[in-house]
Amino acid sequence: MIYSRIAGTGSYLPPRVMTNAEFAARLDTSDAWIRERTGIVQRHIAEKSVGSSDLALQASKRALDAAGVSAEDLDLIIVATSTPDYVFPSTACFLQAKLGIKGSAAFDVQAVCSGFVYGVATADGFIRSRMAKKALVVGAEVFSRILDWNDRGTCVLFGDGAGAVVLVSAEKPGIHASVLRADGSQAGMLSVPGNVCGGAVVGSPFLQMNGQAVFKFAVKVLDESARETVEAAGMKLSDIDWLIPHQANVRILEATARKLGLPPEKLVVTVDHHGNTSAASVPLALDEYVRAGKIRAGDRVLLQGVGGGFTWGSTLVTM
Ligand code: ACO
Repeated sequence: MIYSRIAGTGSYLPPRVMTNAEFAARLDTSDAWIRERTGIVQRHIAEKSVGSSDLALQASKRALDAAGVSAEDLDLIIVATSTPDYVFPSTACFLQAKLGIKGSAAFDVQAVCSGFVYGVATADGFIRSRMAKKALVVGAEVFSRILDWNDRGTCVLFGDGAGAVVLVSAEKPGIHASVLRADGSQAGMLSVPGNVCGGAVVGSPFLQMNGQAVFKFAVKVLDESARETVEAAGMKLSDIDWLIPHQANVRILEATARKLGLPPEKLVVTVDHHGNTSAASVPLALDEYVRAGKIRAGDRVLLQGVGGGFTWGSTLVTM
């Protein structure tokens, strides 16, 4: 039996830090409101000339380095993003070129904030079915490009960044189980309802959401998804050492851990200093905790995504 395991992690945040005070200076909001309702203190914002593939490149180099894998050995590149460099080619193809390699399969996954978990589950399937031996999975976003900076209800929530993992084939899991779900009937709850047609944007190029509906939906499906995935892996919730839910809002994270009966010290929280970086949030959080020596080899980690679509899913992994 062939499995996949995470051989290395990496991440990258653009240097520009934007604090809550900067929003308070130009919008009817306050540092206290943003902290209390979301837990967010700051986020990173990419320069206009920097695209998702640029952030992905830095995160990927760090993950490859940590894994001791050279880019030439990759046979699969998956980039999870909702803010691609172009309509096409895929950001994964741009990343491949920036890594200076050719030949590996390369494609994007578009599952918004669940994209990284969808990407890991897909790469795991490729490795288990022997279609790939070494895969790079990246979540990379420049959500700052799709925000209406005058809408205080959305623009304070998000940030830019990228995180990556290298998955390699292994005799033991690694990845124990993944469960992916979607409900397209909920598309209107969170969307960028526009497209490009005849040289113009048709609809809106800005993110819209029903915040309270998203909040309730996210807590419900993160709870269900965690239980389903742990069961699929033949484990118990108490076997989990670390819970890394999509970093949307600290209240969503705490409510999820509480519903699952997991103690706060098992909950990974980085949304306070990253904001919500969509598909990048889970690998950014994973890499930060790995590099800090908190998540160690042998730890069992539950990675969870939830986002537009609606999409959600979890992957249970032994590091
Ligand atoms: N500053 C000050 N006031 C604000 C702000 C702000 N930045 N944003 C909204 N308000 C106001 C609203 O206008 C409203 O005012 P009103 O009562 O005069 O109408 C009031 O605050 C309350 O608004 P609510 O939407 O009820 O506030 P709530 O407590 O629900 O918090 C929030 C809003 C933070 C968006 C919350 O609903 C939330 O976090 N939802 C989850 C959304 C999320 O995480 N989205 C990320 C993308 S989805 C994903 O990643 C899964």
